[in-house]
Amino acid sequence: MGIRSFLSLEHTSRNELREILDLARAHEEGSVEGTLTGKTVCLAFFESSTRTAVSFELAARRCGADVISLSDKGSAISKGESLVDTVVTLDSLGADAIVLRHPAAGSASLASRHTAAPVVNAGDGCGQHPTQALLDLYALSKALGGFDELSGRRVAIIGDVLHSRVARSVIPAFTKAGMEISLVAPRTLLPRDAGAWGLPVLPSVDEAIDRGAEVLYTLRLQRERMTGARIPSVGEYARFYGVARRHLRGGALVMHPGPVNRGVEIEGDVVLDAASLVPNQVAAGVPVRSAVLTVATGAAQRVAA
Ligand code: NCD
Repeated sequence: MGIRSFLSLEHTSRNELREILDLARAHEEGSVEGTLTGKTVCLAFFESSTRTAVSFELAARRCGADVISLSDKGSAISKGESLVDTVVTLDSLGADAIVLRHPAAGSASLASRHTAAPVVNAGDGCGQHPTQALLDLYALSKALGGFDELSGRRVAIIGDVLHSRVARSVIPAFTKAGMEISLVAPRTLLPRDAGAWGLPVLPSVDEAIDRGAEVLYTLRLQRERMTGARIPSVGEYARFYGVARRHLRGGALVMHPGPVNRGVEIEGDVVLDAASLVPNQVAAGVPVRSAVLTVATGAAQRVAA
């Protein structure tokens, strides 16, 4: 099998999504050991991360890979070295896969054009976050009883879509899985071209529940990416776009990629409620990312190109 970068899920077929999730399940059940023995995985994280960085590292180690970690602090990036020169250096040092997180949209794609090693996009600014969407599909299909159970389910994607690379990856992933998506966000937190997505926009979580939403996928209010005031106040935002206990009465499930602003996107004690898949999403990160690493490096036996 050849190597391949994972930059987005735009060109990933439904069948391929299913195969990656099947591989992740096999990894979770134990067939992971030694799949990357003798390979070197480089984790280049030039933006903060807890779950993504830790789960990629655990995933690579479970596969038996050697792991090198690099951040902006302490690397030549802090001396002004460019992203391209940095990834070319990692490539020359023999990395078999480069996992990249970077604040600029398009950075993973740029990096992949200069390396022989595959690049796995671990989040590029407001661009894409494909492994997050894969682990969300994994956690949700597990909760619902299988990948085919996703088809026809109603999911509301709630909050700061404008600044969310997660939304840009999750929307195509959920669409390919056959889910019915609506957006719940103020106009100021939707991209200008959101109309072209053809998705209904609803004014509140209450309205989404009234229209039968079964999954409430909430997004973090990404204040570090906001250039001006986009909401009147956090309290006002939480009133319309925060998931509260009353929204769970009909059996809806709650998701969030983390980190959660408790009491803003989700009411504090709902974050770890039985209806919340937040811990399941985090746990899914390890098998899904080991599956992605084995596909990216060509070590996996089978997954359609
Ligand atoms: C997300 C990210 O960094 O894009 N978190 C994550 O990877 N689990 C979402 C966010 O920061 O809001």
